[in-house]
Amino acid sequence: MQLYLREINKNDQGELLQMVNEIKNDTIEDKFEGFRDIQYLNEENFNDFLIEREHNKNMKLYRPDLVNQTTFILVDDSNHIYGGTNLRHELNDNLLNFGGHIGYLIRPSERRKGYGTLILSLVLKECQKRGITKVLVTCREGNIGSAKVIEKNQGIYENSKKKVEDNKIYRRYWIELH
Ligand SMILES: CC(C)(COP(=O)(O)OP(=O)(O)OC[C@H]1O[C@@H](n2cnc3c(N)ncnc32)[C@H](O)[C@@H]1OP(=O)(O)O)[C@@H](O)C(=O)NCCC(=O)NCCS
Repeated sequence: MQLYLREINKNDQGELLQMVNEIKNDTIEDKFEGFRDIQYLNEENFNDFLIEREHNKNMKLYRPDLVNQTTFILVDDSNHIYGGTNLRHELNDNLLNFGGHIGYLIRPSERRKGYGTLILSLVLKECQKRGITKVLVTCREGNIGSAKVIEKNQGIYENSKKKVEDNKIYRRYWIELH
């Protein structure tokens, strides 16, 4: 089956809300890590959510201290959603230390099937299209699945940094694209 990344549209409401409910029932620490934008999504605010996606692509126009960001979902031909990812088009101080260029999440029912590795490989292609050739990807220490996803995508570990705000350590990896 062919899976690909695309931006969210109005027809995705049902699938996306199902995915949000699935994640809410997850038992892991920090369930929405990597794709936090969807945690407050509901039927009432779906249109605002779509408007916000557009807004985020030009965020620097409104908030020069923030960076532009594009959101993608991983879907198949029947528009089943496997997960989501955010691509930050550049780094600011906070992203350089902790957040990196890319966040991602695979819905619990689709984990451990290779989709985490796939979503990162596909969003790296989106980086390439935008001329981002040195990509920073980070993960919280102890997030073994995410560390493996990064390493399987040729992430080279640089170091770990502790974030004062949440008292957590983040592993920082660079991926060079050619
Ligand atoms: C991290 C995450 C994206 C991994 O997605 P996934 O679809 O399970 O990843 P894959 O199936 O591609 O797995 C990649 C490797 O990690 C391993 N792995 C995945 N989850 C794991 C876990 N919880 N513990 C140990 N290993 C794990 C897989 O077995 C696989 O290893 P292998 O190739 O040696 O067999 C997913 O667990 C998730 O969405 N977690 C919550 C959000 C999150 O943490 N996002 C990342 C923020 S940095």
